[in-house]
Amino acid sequence: MAQAHQAKYRKDYQSPSHTITDIDLTFELQDTATIVTAVSQVKQLKDSTSLELDGEGLELKRLEVNQVEWNEYELVEGSIKIHQLPTEFVLTIVTEINPEANTALEGLYKSDGAYCTQCEAEGFRRITYYLDRPDVLAKYTTTVIADKAQYPFLLSNGNRIEQADLNDGRHMVKWSDPHPKPSYLFALVAGDFDVLRDKYTTKSGRNVELEIFVDKGNLNRANHAMVSLINSMKWDEERFGLEYDLDIYMIVAVDFFNMGAMENKGLNVFNSKFVLANDQTATDTDYLGIEAVIGHEYFHNWTGNRVTCRDWFQLSLKEGLTVFRDQEFSSDLGSRAVNRINNVRIIRGPQFAEDASPMSHPIRPDKVIEMNNFYTLTVYEKGSEVIRMYHTLLGEEGFQKGIKLYIERHDGTAATCEDFVKAMEDANGVDLTQFRLWYSQSGTPTVKVASHYDAQQQTYTLTLEQSTEPTQDQKEKQALHIPFDIELYNAAGEVTELRCNGEKVSNVLNLTQAKQSFVFEGVTEKPVPSLLREFSAPVKLEYDYSDEELTFLMVHARNEFARWDAGQMLLAKYIRSNVETVQAGDEVSLPEQVVDAFRGVLLSKELEPAFIAEVMSLPSHNEVSGWYKTVDVDAVAAVLKAIKVQLALELADELSAIYHSLKQSEYTIDHAAIGERALRNTALSYLAYTEQGNALALQQYQQANNMTDTIAAMSAANQAQLDCRETLMSDYSDKWKHDGLVMDKWFTLQGCNPSTNALDMIKQTMQHEAFSLKNPNRTRSLVGSFLNMNPVNFHAIDGSGYQFAGEILRELNSVNPQVASRLIDPLLKLGKYDQTRQALIKVELEKLKSMDDLAKDLFEKVTKALEA
Ligand code: TRP
Ligand code: ZN
Repeated sequence: MAQAHQAKYRKDYQSPSHTITDIDLTFELQDTATIVTAVSQVKQLKDSTSLELDGEGLELKRLEVNQVEWNEYELVEGSIKIHQLPTEFVLTIVTEINPEANTALEGLYKSDGAYCTQCEAEGFRRITYYLDRPDVLAKYTTTVIADKAQYPFLLSNGNRIEQADLNDGRHMVKWSDPHPKPSYLFALVAGDFDVLRDKYTTKSGRNVELEIFVDKGNLNRANHAMVSLINSMKWDEERFGLEYDLDIYMIVAVDFFNMGAMENKGLNVFNSKFVLANDQTATDTDYLGIEAVIGHEYFHNWTGNRVTCRDWFQLSLKEGLTVFRDQEFSSDLGSRAVNRINNVRIIRGPQFAEDASPMSHPIRPDKVIEMNNFYTLTVYEKGSEVIRMYHTLLGEEGFQKGIKLYIERHDGTAATCEDFVKAMEDANGVDLTQFRLWYSQSGTPTVKVASHYDAQQQTYTLTLEQSTEPTQDQKEKQALHIPFDIELYNAAGEVTELRCNGEKVSNVLNLTQAKQSFVFEGVTEKPVPSLLREFSAPVKLEYDYSDEELTFLMVHARNEFARWDAGQMLLAKYIRSNVETVQAGDEVSLPEQVVDAFRGVLLSKELEPAFIAEVMSLPSHNEVSGWYKTVDVDAVAAVLKAIKVQLALELADELSAIYHSLKQSEYTIDHAAIGERALRNTALSYLAYTEQGNALALQQYQQANNMTDTIAAMSAANQAQLDCRETLMSDYSDKWKHDGLVMDKWFTLQGCNPSTNALDMIKQTMQHEAFSLKNPNRTRSLVGSFLNMNPVNFHAIDGSGYQFAGEILRELNSVNPQVASRLIDPLLKLGKYDQTRQALIKVELEKLKSMDDLAKDLFEKVTKALEA
């Protein structure tokens, strides 16, 4: 039986008893016995002569206070308590750690041949005893010592201030970071790399050295990351007026990494997936992902590092804001509509699902057992939507005024979400009291809309009603301040000016009550409303649109997002009704006018190809599942497939014409070319279900001169189970088996394989020479895709999918609890399935719960799921 792990509560925050103003670290790197010497300048802040420092998995070698050996201490689980201390002192702590045995990838560990660190959220305590909390900001000096031949590069935060060869084949490099920072931003890297170098001059004239470190032989895959970094630096100056503040910016790509990347001051550590790309190894999606993540980590330099978080409950302060910034960056550089569509898909799919699950929490959580469990879609993506709502309410100018004041007030300190709201209020002279509820209330609000046209009065009334279902963490819900963006169209497709009480009013309605009516005057004919434009708030919309209104909006809405959204709502109507049809044992069908609406989009000459590709993409199984209290997995899968097949057959001529006309002779990665490939490959994904499918996929695979087209061909073959599938899969594996990152795409296809014997094939695939459960990217590609993107097999009624997930989770619990804890999410949603499936999932959760070494990470989620 797992031991019960203690929760921490936001309301219990206490400022630290001491602070550390400076820390001098020395690392003597050895695979199994690294010696860390930490010399800290400590100052008492509160009336306490005892100091408790966090520490985990450390061997204490020496403890001194003011250079004198100190025996007044106790070692307890997870910390050291030091007693009888003076008010100001120098604390010397020597610890020994074992980086080679560290498979959890938190603290100091080895990734292939290189040493690297990951300290966020609470990994620094695995390096030395410390006040490992973000409201203790110190200046760091770091000396790294290691064998020179094996580890020619020794890196840490800040500027290199000293280096020397030692006489035993080792060398040392000393770094100093002038900006005080919390321990989670500390980083160290040692290894042998190829380096891509460039330079950037900031707008005020600071010269910055840019260095990207990659595994030997990968230099030809680092270019896009460098271009993205330079674009990020420029964009932050132009849009936010924010400039870089050190003389050097380093990025290291590592193969073993739990997340996407980490914003350590001056020394970002990246999952190699978000650095390495060339046309032969990476898809367009990979390129765009690199741009977004490089931007994200760079933007943290101001929103995260210069202004950091007071405590981890405030995580969304830096993450929501930084996600908003990276989304804006991608939108300014590429297609705003396509970016918005993809972000909204994430909210409506996995974020809404999380908010309805046992893990539901507000963007600023109140209760945490394992902080790593709260790097969630809610904190990041919903957090970004909350930031976007300020932008919608205040406009770009007001928003930027707020950001400026926030940074002026809090630069060099640790702030709270409340500080952010206050800055927005004070800079704009507005009252955001009710808006603050977005930080404390979990769950997804539904806004139900009713409309009424009064021809005589020429008024049009919209009645908006909001409600939020109770969530597991919070039963009572209040009315939120919801910015609700609308437009009204007349039959000619023209926009009607919005007038209330004789005055012109904004498109953004302020819904603040449970139920509220808005009466618009001078409306000369019954309009078609475009509602929740740009997805102006993270809510579910309910409005009884007719098919005619939706097809009208698909053509006439002024903005692309609204057109796409109308298409999605039209599909949603027929997905829902066909699920019932299938449940009644009848055939799926889509009426002619729906098919025609999509035909119209396909044939459009004005719309961007990238946008057309989005309109043609059906909602995911996960998103559709979110529409139901209890989801019929097989019926939803059957309907999505049948709709795809019907559209493919009825639109075959149009799709085929597009497919052939968009063939490119040369590969370039500009946005126009990316969009054309997206549309062509979307066409292929449909054509796969027609007679020509097998020939087209095979031919595209053979002729492809880039990875995007290669993977599109394989994916079409996989989804439609074409004859050529085996040939393509084995050819690819022969060609790329030496390259884990490239093989991840192949593992993902195996994981999503809709074939009835997919699970057996996946088990075999785990024996592939490129696979290892120790590598998070490999595990997520194969196992993660099976759990998240293979609904029919994962939810097989014999329980085989759940058992497989259980086995993997039990193994990962000791190898890498963070990865295990991300993987378990689909099992937490057991409440969405029928009794049989629920019981089967429960068996696996109970088995986990009964493990006596169950990690905190899994403990927190498993207990919540079983409480549900
Ligand atoms: N702060 C990082 C980001 O959002 C993500 C992060 C948090 C992380 N915890 C981590 C990365 C643990 C790796 C491992 O950019
Ligand atoms: Zn981040």
